[in-house]
Amino acid sequence: MSAIAVHCQNLVKIYATGNQKVTALNGINLDIAQGELMMLVGPSGCGKTTLISVIAGILDQDDGVCELFGQNILKMRSAEKLKFRAQNIGFVFQAFNLLPALNAMENVSVPLIINGVRRQTAERQAAAVLEQVGLGERRKSLPAELSGGQQQRVAIARALVHSPRLIVCDEPTSALDHESGRNVMTLLKDVALHKDRTLVIVTHDARIFEFADRMAKMDDGHIVNVSGSKPLHEAL
Ligand SMILES: Nc1ncnc2c1ncn2[C@@H]1O[C@H](COP(=O)(O)OP(=O)(O)O)[C@@H](O)[C@H]1O
Ligand SMILES: [Mg+2]
Repeated sequence: MSAIAVHCQNLVKIYATGNQKVTALNGINLDIAQGELMMLVGPSGCGKTTLISVIAGILDQDDGVCELFGQNILKMRSAEKLKFRAQNIGFVFQAFNLLPALNAMENVSVPLIINGVRRQTAERQAAAVLEQVGLGERRKSLPAELSGGQQQRVAIARALVHSPRLIVCDEPTSALDHESGRNVMTLLKDVALHKDRTLVIVTHDARIFEFADRMAKMDDGHIVNVSGSKPLHEAL
């Protein structure tokens, strides 16, 4: 029996720029089970990136509660929060956010190094995950020497390498062709199914919808509909 991995209750996030206010999250309620692959869809600007940033502890909400594996990260001290995030969360940014001076293997090693793994061991594990995303041969390449799709796969490898319990991805197949997109999704799905990891994936890519256990549709800061083959009470 699995537990709730992500619990969002009445989440509100308001951005204030100058004297303008944008309500990016307007009362989000969502529970995601451990081992579940949840997709988040909705029009541009509806709050998807904001929601996953709050879930991953990158952004603080203005109201409401977000718990990960029963823990409220907003209440943690900053050092404790950094450690919790480093151990438990893998994040694939929409813009990849690779470190330009580090090669692919070094970029993928970073989460392991942060968690205290020795450099040599970290690089060996990083090379193995790069192999899984089809980039074994390119492990010594710098981000600038890689195509957008290859950089995206490095970013995905970096989110997986430290075996986090929660993997959050912002448009992880946006730069990938059909076949690479399916390969990456097969890998992510396998991690959810066989390793009981939880995945939250923002996407516009209808070609990968079939990989979802459930799909939450957002609009204007709200979740308007949650659908899928597995209702949460069955996933639990
Ligand atoms: N840093 C920011 N400052 C001000 N407004 C922002 C910021 N980030 C996002 N927004 C606004 O919040 C809303 C939701 O944005 P976002 O979460 O990025 O949506 P999505 O990922 O679904 O496209 C949009 O109206 C966007 O313009
Ligand atoms: Mg976005």
